[in-house]
Amino acid sequence: MRKKVTVVGAGNVGANTAQKIAAKELADVVLVDIVEGVPQGKGLDMLESAPVEGYDVSITGANGYEATADSDIVVITAGFPRKPGMSRDDLLLANYEVVKTATESAARYSPNAVLVLVTNPLDAMCWTAHQVSGFPRHRVIGMAGVLDTARFRTFIAEELKVSFENVTAMVLGGHGDTMVPLVRFTNVSGIPLAELTDQTTIDRLVQRTRDGGAEIVKYLKTGSAYYAPAASTVEMVESILKDKKKVLPCAALLDGEYGVHGLFVGVPVKLGSKGIEHIYQIALTASEEAALQKSVEAVAELVEVLKQKIG
Ligand code: APR
Repeated sequence: MRKKVTVVGAGNVGANTAQKIAAKELADVVLVDIVEGVPQGKGLDMLESAPVEGYDVSITGANGYEATADSDIVVITAGFPRKPGMSRDDLLLANYEVVKTATESAARYSPNAVLVLVTNPLDAMCWTAHQVSGFPRHRVIGMAGVLDTARFRTFIAEELKVSFENVTAMVLGGHGDTMVPLVRFTNVSGIPLAELTDQTTIDRLVQRTRDGGAEIVKYLKTGSAYYAPAASTVEMVESILKDKKKVLPCAALLDGEYGVHGLFVGVPVKLGSKGIEHIYQIALTASEEAALQKSVEAVAELVEVLKQKIG
């Protein structure tokens, strides 16, 4: 039987995610959005490229959740972009409502699904989805680290003029300005980055990675990145559906790992058919530890705002 993936939010990230899942024939796809006609229209448009591209999956669009029943994975990309004049907390509270509603409905129809969160602010939205769904922690996962490492890998490969594929990188922490690119675990075909370039260059690449999302927003002006976010989401979806057990940096609910309790933070995990099958704890140096702690505090602040709202 074919696998089934629901993508909530048929905007830029959601539609690209759906298209890539179909193109790789990973699963049948159901696109859900609140705007009438948009998921149906985009779904049909994607389906009509099947004869040309040569994939055999069904792609449907809906405004409700009935058609999503028994999905193996639900990807949540629904949300508002940050508008001028909107504070970070305003965005947090607006997207809290969206992710809460989407999770409640999706979880009711697919109680055994793995939830993959994409909506920002990512770590706080993962916390919301976990609270609302009541799913075990291995079935609520946030997409951030794959994207952040993809950006870091891109900048390194361009700088060193080597294949993108050869670069392996590691980024820990929250998905934001405080993310922690771990240079010690970043290499080109096993050669540590520090052996290939100087510290000033490394610092510049790290900073560009931290600002990676903002760099795209600055170009697009009215929206945020979506090709690389969609590609990163699909790598996670593929590892879960095919039980590939890829080790990827993802936002996971920590229960004592890295000294963190009850917060979603980006850490290396093994992704298989059960969702998160292992959280890798790596020994950090004092400065890495301090950077991670700072990032955890930033995530905790946002979750605190949500806790106060819920009461
Ligand atoms: N239920 C379903 N869909 C919703 C809901 C809801 N309650 N609220 C909003 N949406 C839909 C919108 O109608 C829109 O089609 O979510 C979609 C969001 O799409 P875009 O505005 O194009 O945003 P996108 O670029 O896809 O980003 C989505 O992913 O990377 C993150 O920061 C990004 O949080 C943002 C999310």
